[in-house]
Amino acid sequence: MPGVDPLAYTSFDLRVAQAQAAERGKVHFLFLPDGPQAVAADIEHEAPGFNLDVMMTLAAVARGTTRIGMVATGSMTFNEPFNLARQFKALDVMSHGRAGWNAVTSAGEDVAANYGQRIPSSADRYGRAHEMVQIVQALWGSWGKDAWVHDQASGQFARSEEVAPINLGGRYVASRGPLYIPPSEQGQPVIVHAGGASANALGFAGRYASVVIGAAYSVKDGRAQRTAFREAAERAGRDPDEIKFIPGLMPTIAGDTRAALDRRIALSGQTLSQRASYLQQMLGVRIDPTRLDSPISPDALATARLSADPRSARALEIARAGWNLRDILAHGVIDYQPVVAGTTTDVADHMQSWFEGEAADGFWVAPDVYQDGLEAFVDGVLPILRQRGLFHHDYVGTTLREHLGVPAQYGIDPRIGRLS
Ligand SMILES: Cc1cc2nc3c(=O)[nH]c(=O)nc-3n(C[C@H](O)[C@H](O)[C@H](O)COP(=O)(O)O)c2cc1C
Repeated sequence: MPGVDPLAYTSFDLRVAQAQAAERGKVHFLFLPDGPQAVAADIEHEAPGFNLDVMMTLAAVARGTTRIGMVATGSMTFNEPFNLARQFKALDVMSHGRAGWNAVTSAGEDVAANYGQRIPSSADRYGRAHEMVQIVQALWGSWGKDAWVHDQASGQFARSEEVAPINLGGRYVASRGPLYIPPSEQGQPVIVHAGGASANALGFAGRYASVVIGAAYSVKDGRAQRTAFREAAERAGRDPDEIKFIPGLMPTIAGDTRAALDRRIALSGQTLSQRASYLQQMLGVRIDPTRLDSPISPDALATARLSADPRSARALEIARAGWNLRDILAHGVIDYQPVVAGTTTDVADHMQSWFEGEAADGFWVAPDVYQDGLEAFVDGVLPILRQRGLFHHDYVGTTLREHLGVPAQYGIDPRIGRLS
């Protein structure tokens, strides 16, 4: 994108500056996805991702911010529980209680190959996941809350009787423990799960997650997923309000819709015609990808049918409004999260309608271009939401648990079955 620093890929200074901008907007937390990262398929044209290493990035961010929460992804398939337990609790201590763990099972074969493995079946991924999260939480709780006395006068460092091995194991992983890290200001990190509403993901998130990072394409879709996660929490013996469903949003903010579409065309214009063939499949109509300046003909649209793709209804609506092919695609109708290309008010309206439609407890927001898109969101959209009484004016506390209203927990949740 013109105007963007082409060296941003390796700049930790930029990550910290972006975190500070989000913190100025009182954003609850940063979310860092991770495959774990592998080289992108099209390395000729694409950066592999945004973070060289999510924990290193958040360590830098922790030192450059004071309030914003920070959630990193930690794979339960390609880590041992002790690795994750120590890294996340150390980040939690370093950030004074602002850390969260996005506990995911990883899905890409290119990622698995970097570990000399194949992606296991869903049953094995989630079998291991249940053991992982319980052992990690048990390790967090293995250093008693008041064990660290650090009494210089007597020379006592810690009460040994409050630092006990966990001796937990199952079919996939095990640990003796104990961990050697005292509690943070929030006790231990908050558990997050990024995923769709597959039966195994629901079973996992319903038991352990306080936040679900989701992907939904309409209010109806979001409401159905949010309800499914809330019911899963209830089945696990929890209060449904203990799980927050947060779908994604990719805003492109400009003075009007035309300017926003032009910005998206400048950003991804060269790849638009490649995407036309997918639009053809999604709507079941013939589209000539070389005729980006023409609308899809009314005759062709009359025969269109909605596919199983949840994005197809919106795509058809935009096509029927008479936009040319380039603009239909620039609306983001086949992007991997909902796109709002328009004014700050358009973005605020989208968020309000999803929130009031019970499709979202909040949003994860990926600005199109961080360099200026983040500030446009923080300084343009958030004030509108505040004015409408939909967003807070300041953080209520200092920890991620306080920001999100997550109940206190140290060690394993006693309501959830223990490994032995
Ligand atoms: C918005 C969103 C973000 C996600 N981020 C990650 C991620 O960073 N790392 C990861 O391994 N999985 C991530 N996932 C989860 C995988 O996509 C998910 O495990 C995969 O779709 C397979 O689904 P299943 O585990 O229910 O079989 C994310 C999911 C969603 C919806």
